[in-house]
Amino acid sequence: MPKNKKLSLLVCGGAGYIGSHMARMIAESGHDVTVFDNLSTGHMEALKWGKFIKGDLRNPNDVAKAFEDSNYDAVFHFSGLIVVSESVEKPFEYYDNNVTGTINLLEAMRANGVNKFVFSSTAAVYGDPVMDMITEDHPLKPLNPYGKSKLFVEEILQDYAVAYGLDSVCFRYFNAAGAHPDSLIGEAHKPETHLIPNILLSGIDDGRKLKIFGNDYPTPDGTCVRDYIHILDLCDAHLSAISYMENKEGAHVFNLGNGQGFSILEVIKASSEVMGNKIEFDYEPARAGDSPRLVADSSKAVRELKWQPKFNDLREMIETAYRWHKKPAY
Ligand code: UFG
Repeated sequence: MPKNKKLSLLVCGGAGYIGSHMARMIAESGHDVTVFDNLSTGHMEALKWGKFIKGDLRNPNDVAKAFEDSNYDAVFHFSGLIVVSESVEKPFEYYDNNVTGTINLLEAMRANGVNKFVFSSTAAVYGDPVMDMITEDHPLKPLNPYGKSKLFVEEILQDYAVAYGLDSVCFRYFNAAGAHPDSLIGEAHKPETHLIPNILLSGIDDGRKLKIFGNDYPTPDGTCVRDYIHILDLCDAHLSAISYMENKEGAHVFNLGNGQGFSILEVIKASSEVMGNKIEFDYEPARAGDSPRLVADSSKAVRELKWQPKFNDLREMIETAYRWHKKPAY
């Protein structure tokens, strides 16, 4: 982040899980933040920081309004549809929202002379992993429309860098987890599909038994292995991306993970220890499109962005999530 310079930043999707933590971090770092969100999956109650403009990225007139009274230094884009299985059933919605919506946003940036962009991409762009620790040059073979929609935008950003000088950083998130430690904001998806929230919710509510999707994967205990990265560490990297783009032109891509893989059974054990509860579960058939193992090599982000995740302990991440899920504000 440039020192001693107050920035004005637009956060698209700032009412959602990652976007709200980002908007908060920007405001608490002393910068101006404007949130743009259609509230389709985001929460009004999460909008505690900065200015709010309600609108939909698919509507160019709405997007134009977000740029009317401000001169942004950069744009963060978190407004994505994110449910892999839903993307298989509704590809139009995913391409329309995630690709067309992003193009509308990029065009509004061009029209207003804003040329720094940070994009939320995903480990889903890699598809079936052929490396134990995935680096950014792993083959890109997304298995579903969700992953493809993110990859299309990454490619569009390369073209925009060459043709229009629009600088960008794409972050390929592994599994975002946890909540702000003071639990004013947290993770609230409806319906909840993510593992850690579902484990905690079934620990809190006895009637809600956890389903484990698949137990014959080629992993040590047969359940899927993922790399969990705390939400505040993700947001930190986004601020570093702004400084990075001050000196580096072009379209850049970084993995964001912790570099440690945990199986579903390991996450359940850690959650059980945090909660002091036993978690009941049933095995269900594997979910379509799930990779057996996704673990990041994030050394490029560490080296080039001077970024270092602070939450290295899975239990600590789960603790912040538990504090939120025990008493969610929305
Ligand atoms: N899982 C269960 N039970 C649940 C929820 C999840 O067994 O109730 C399993 C899943 O099958 C998977 C693992 O736990 O094996 C993690 O699942 P999540 O839904 O928490 O996360 P994913 O790895 O499927 O997805 C995340 C992001 C996506 C992104 C993907 C990239 O949520 O947006 O990482 O791999 F695309």
